[in-house]
Amino acid sequence: MFGIGVDITHVPRIRRLFTRWGYRFLRRAFAPAEILRFEELERSASGPSPAAFLAARWAAKEALHKALAPRTGLRLDFSEVEVTRSAGSGAPSSRGAPAFAFHYSAGKAFQPLNLHASVSLSHDGEYAAAFVVLTEVAPQKEDTPLG
Ligand SMILES: CC(C)(COP(=O)(O)OP(=O)(O)OC[C@H]1O[C@@H](n2cnc3c(N)ncnc32)[C@H](O)[C@@H]1OP(=O)(O)O)[C@@H](O)C(=O)NCCC(=O)NCCS
Repeated sequence: MFGIGVDITHVPRIRRLFTRWGYRFLRRAFAPAEILRFEELERSASGPSPAAFLAARWAAKEALHKALAPRTGLRLDFSEVEVTRSAGSGAPSSRGAPAFAFHYSAGKAFQPLNLHASVSLSHDGEYAAAFVVLTEVAPQKEDTPLG
């Protein structure tokens, strides 16, 4: 185990940040795919509240920072860290678990560390929470030319 991090985020705080700063805030803290999903949720009558969706992802990035920063000194750009959801088996009850995808400079910084980041999210009412565990993985073998 390399590191752990936890965060709890007040959903109304995230809603206020969006109300005040709009897309400036979204683009700074969230990946493009997360912003698209947020927009879908804003148009939709079902699913989690759009602000709770963002708050859970904000919590995940803060928790990741707490797990990563003490031993690496890294400060990843939140907009380059995406919380994804696995596709699941397709059955209605198989909702995909969350995971991180690291893009651009966050990918370049994270990949050589040979770490796996596991993340778990929760939201209920005015609070969203996330827990992150970083584990060491064997370095990926570099491709060696045949012959
Ligand atoms: C350090 C940071 C994670 C603290 O988060 P916060 O929401 O202000 O406060 P929380 O209540 O969630 O967490 C506080 C706890 O985090 C822990 N903590 C503080 N600095 C930490 C660090 N560098 N690494 C890991 N954990 C840290 C401490 O235990 C602290 O509790 P304590 O003061 O009682 O000991 C936050 O201030 C931060 O710097 N986040 C990164 C922001 C960032 O990169 N943003 C980019 C946006 S685009």
